[in-house]
Amino acid sequence: MLPKVSRRSASVDPFIVMDVMAAAAEKEAAGDTVIHLEVGQPSTPAPKAALAAAHAALDSDRIGYVAALGMPALRERIARHYRDIYRVEVSPERVIVTTGSSSGFPLAFLASFDAGDRVALAAPGYPAYRNILAALNLEAVDLPTSAADLFQPTVEALEKAGRIDGLIVASPSNPTGTMVGRAAMAKLAHWCDAKGVRLISDEIYHGIVYEGETVSAAEVSETAIVVNSFSKYFSMTGWRVGWLVVPTDLVRPIERLAQNFFISVPTLSQHAALAAFESREELDGHVRRYRTNRDLLLAGLPAAGFTTFAPAEGAFYLYADVAHLTNDSAEFCRRMLKESGVATTPGNDFDRARGAGTLRISFAGSTAAMEEAVRRLKAWRR
Ligand SMILES: Cc1ncc(COP(=O)(O)O)c(C=O)c1O
Repeated sequence: MLPKVSRRSASVDPFIVMDVMAAAAEKEAAGDTVIHLEVGQPSTPAPKAALAAAHAALDSDRIGYVAALGMPALRERIARHYRDIYRVEVSPERVIVTTGSSSGFPLAFLASFDAGDRVALAAPGYPAYRNILAALNLEAVDLPTSAADLFQPTVEALEKAGRIDGLIVASPSNPTGTMVGRAAMAKLAHWCDAKGVRLISDEIYHGIVYEGETVSAAEVSETAIVVNSFSKYFSMTGWRVGWLVVPTDLVRPIERLAQNFFISVPTLSQHAALAAFESREELDGHVRRYRTNRDLLLAGLPAAGFTTFAPAEGAFYLYADVAHLTNDSAEFCRRMLKESGVATTPGNDFDRARGAGTLRISFAGSTAAMEEAVRRLKAWRR
């Protein structure tokens, strides 16, 4: 008799964008060129200062284990980042370095919730939230959102969600790029505090902003958990380094979990991440390119039939309403890739109820790639 496969692993959905990426790779292997608007990562390497620091560390450091909560110098530098950028005091003791933000989520969830607890989150949203929650026997509670509320959670939606133990907010959001303003963030934080609900704020796209200002939950809440990463603004996806800012009473519980799960975060990456903070000029240059790309797509795509987008205030995504073109965005994306060589992500990954009528377009690539995508899509839809 075969040993069993756990029920909880069966409750975790696949990431549909991976199927798009596989189809795109197949097309390229057959000799076609593909414009990659499906990717969720910067097209640039780590900043030069980070690369230099990594080289220096390889020559001088043993690259052994370090403390489970992160290298003290990096925790201190991240704390200073809050003073510099948000004008808020965060003590280094509350900063926990993680293996990308992806390992921050299970740490935050396990420290905050017990099996069966209910965690609210906006639909559309980043699919890993619900999949990690499912893997941990936690219940994801979808908050339906609309263009009118910028696809973000509201107190009104929370009031209708029944008993909840946690709320995940992402600003700027993947896939919509929309943000939660200061007043809205404070309102959500106060509601959570009044109800004893743990607020978890995914701030991984902070720094990549075109309209308005990003607000950290650390500015408006003593009890929120902030999740951040070096992957997006800092252009360091493959280095797998991120961080949490947590309330003091969660530091030790998370330290115990991190010690047992991971021992420590890759040491070489922590050296590089520390130096990345000194690269603002280079990194802001990437953000200027994203803005150019965004504006180019917003100007060009309507002629190809894509007319309705969530207001992309930050991150590097356009979330397009394609309900007038298809009722099956997965099939639509497959056909678009096959016939025009432009890869995008169907909305089903982000919104199980309504994603068949949406798709996500990433503009993290080169400006030349965006120009070519508009040209191809116009020709395809003619
Ligand atoms: C909203 C959001 N949160 C978290 C992540 C995870 O990123 P990482 O583990 O590289 O920090 C991503 C990746 O695309 C994301 O879009």
